Amino acid sequence: MRAFQAAWQSYMAFMAQSPVVCAATTAVVLVVSIVSWALIEQKINYNPSEPPFVRYYVPFIGSMIEFGVHPIKFIRKYQKKHGNFFTFLMFGRRMTVCVDIDGNDFVFNVKHSNVTAEDAYNSLTKPVFGEGVVYDVPNSMLMEQKRMIKSGLSIESFRAYIPIIIDEVNQYVDKHWTKDQDTIDLLQSISEMIIMTASHTLLGPEIRSKLYEGIADLYHTLDSCFTPIHFLFEWLPLPSYYASEKAHAELDSIFAKVIADRRKEPGEKHIDMLDALMASKYKNGEPPSDKHIGNMLIALLMAGQHTSAATTTWALLNLAENPAIVNEARTEIGSMLGRELKGGSSVPEISYENVKDFKTLDNVIRETLRIRSPLVQLMRKVVKPVAVPNTSYVIPAGYYIIASPIISSTDEKYYKNAEAWVPSRWNNSDADEQADKSTTDYGFGAMSTSARSPNLPFGAGRHRCIGEQFAYLQIKTILYTLLTRFDFELDPKRGMPERNYQSMVVLPEGPVLCQYNRRTIKNQ
Ligand code: HEM
Ligand SMILES: *[C@@H]1O[C@H](CO)[C@@H](O)[C@H](O)[C@H]1NC(C)=O
Ligand SMILES: *[C@@H]1O[C@H](CO)[C@@H](O)[C@H](O)[C@H]1NC(C)=O
Ligand SMILES: *[C@@H]1O[C@H](CO)[C@@H](O)[C@H](O)[C@H]1NC(C)=O
Repeated sequence: MRAFQAAWQSYMAFMAQSPVVCAATTAVVLVVSIVSWALIEQKINYNPSEPPFVRYYVPFIGSMIEFGVHPIKFIRKYQKKHGNFFTFLMFGRRMTVCVDIDGNDFVFNVKHSNVTAEDAYNSLTKPVFGEGVVYDVPNSMLMEQKRMIKSGLSIESFRAYIPIIIDEVNQYVDKHWTKDQDTIDLLQSISEMIIMTASHTLLGPEIRSKLYEGIADLYHTLDSCFTPIHFLFEWLPLPSYYASEKAHAELDSIFAKVIADRRKEPGEKHIDMLDALMASKYKNGEPPSDKHIGNMLIALLMAGQHTSAATTTWALLNLAENPAIVNEARTEIGSMLGRELKGGSSVPEISYENVKDFKTLDNVIRETLRIRSPLVQLMRKVVKPVAVPNTSYVIPAGYYIIASPIISSTDEKYYKNAEAWVPSRWNNSDADEQADKSTTDYGFGAMSTSARSPNLPFGAGRHRCIGEQFAYLQIKTILYTLLTRFDFELDPKRGMPERNYQSMVVLPEGPVLCQYNRRTIKNQ
């Protein structure tokens, strides 16, 4: 105690004499001790049976900043140093990155008894999706819910969706893009087209017609819970949680009313996701409750909103830079329909078969997803220690594992000139298919067993996306309608935007300025 007092007195005396030197010395001592603490902690915790650990200099925080600023750069840098499996510390959590085809296969096909998605995602998704759906139920129930959802994504429903999507896009541009030429925020416009088309086709015309009466704001409230902050601070009583609870209650009552109205008119035929869910049952014969139907619909909108909006926007930005590919798409579609796509405001009718055969637009979307995959980190949580096949690594319980298929889909090892946007590389797309043709059915349809593929923008395994065909249909139909009526040019000052990694879904950095030029028939 005496010694401490003496030390404190001489410190105060030093401070009084030369405050600047003293403050600087204190700062240096503090930094040195924090860094040494971090380094000593890593030495003590080193375990040779685990994947290598990325060195960090600040305890607890770890590599959070470097990862958060640019996760792709971060992963590539440490992949070079440590290989396809390595762990980093992020705000007290230990995250094991698993990349390349070995990493993809490990994360997407890992045993559910040892590693789960629900333990990683539920704290983030429950405030957004609501209770009783997706990650708020046992995995076997999610598999059944995915089966129900798939029944609303049939070819019959896709046929009905195409004219609805064209109509929604036409209405949007007639209302908002009224000049012959203007600069717009493309991401904002596309996001609105996605929400209108998805709401109309999935939730049905009744709810779509209420979008202008505040439903869009309720979605937005839910959406604002979908940020990395809510993953990191799951224990904080953030105000957005209360707002989302309120928004959920309001949406529930809107859905409940629409469902009740439909039950009153059982003879009336609807073709949409709401109808499919109302007609579905769990294996035990029970139908999903109205509340769970509503929450599934909300989850679907959220799953498709930013992913499809980002993909459509990147596709259009790249097309704006490549007018030759736009011409190729128009020529191909024109010869398919037996009439030139000349511009003006009339958009020729197209069938489901036509959309399926839009090969150039197909390549455009596939290539866009390869280099601008909107989901760059997919997570699971280890609940029982798990061995990484073909390595000596065991990942302990409590760790998170992260897949990042964009790392392999932009690796020169698999794709020549990997960062370049070249849709024609998919001309013979069979070349990319996996050698292993075996399939597995987790309860919602058979799909490729292996995830040993470099290009998996829709994931693989039991959590694989079931919205892929819908997304392609929606994006192709929007692109078709817009390219029939407009040409696009990048804003000369902004050029091609960078990626913004601050949200869960990676978006182009806004404002995404882009110029549209109306195609008038007399110009042709
Ligand atoms: C371009 C658009 C889209 C992309 C890139 C995309 C990507 C993905 C990915 C990577 C996963 C796997 C997540 C994981 O393993 O953790 C996934 C799952 C899923 N997606 Fe999509 N998605 C898109 C559009 C949609 C749409 C439009 C819907 C709904 C109609 C949808 C519904 C779902 C559902 C229900 C799951 C399953 C979640 C699970 O089983 O854990 N997605 N999506
Ligand atoms: C899963 O966990 C159990 C219990 O800890 C363990 O015996 C088993 O080897 C693990 N499975 C894998 C694939 O690591
Ligand atoms: C990894 O091990 C599995 C069996 O556990 C085997 O089928 C597979 O070929 C191995 N992969 C590699 C790349 O060695
Ligand atoms: C891909 O197909 C398009 C349209 O048929 C053609 O213009 C292009 O040259 C092809 N590219 C390659 C690399 O084969």
